[in-house]
Amino acid sequence: MSETTLRVSKIKDGTVIDHITAGHALDVIKILGITSRVKIEGRELKSQEVDKIALLAPHASINIIRNYEVVDKQLVRLPKVIRETVKCANPVCVSNSKEPVKSTFYVDNEEPLRLRCHYCGYIMEKQDIPKQF
Ligand code: CTP
Ligand code: ZN
Repeated sequence: MSETTLRVSKIKDGTVIDHITAGHALDVIKILGITSRVKIEGRELKSQEVDKIALLAPHASINIIRNYEVVDKQLVRLPKVIRETVKCANPVCVSNSKEPVKSTFYVDNEEPLRLRCHYCGYIMEKQDIPKQF
């Protein structure tokens, strides 16, 4: 590992929380009261990741940084239809069977969040979603 990489990857003081298993990172962020700002160095978010953030943090804004400059700043927004992102919580929904159907939800209400399954009409609320991601 080069000198530079080492300096970037080691921190001087603080705490490293390691081995956070899938789905628990958001809980950790909540416990620590990190509510204002999260920086992700070295990668820009994919649009499906932005959709997921919009579901959980509807007031967030996303800044894209290139070469130290803010090149894009967007408030997250929910599309009217969310495909292949959320899994229907109704166990007998056709989207949970072996049928090759893509999960599809309509955003009936943004806040409080209400998503309606295209296939079975099941209503998903905010608390039904974080455990899926
Ligand atoms: N930022 C960063 N690295 C950069 C440029 C900006 O981490 N090279 C961060 C800033 O610290 C800030 C966010 O990106 O949290 C947006 O930057 P900027 O638009 O310059 O800040 P503000 O004008 O305060 O934006 P806003 O009012 O939208 O928070
Ligand atoms: Zn359904």
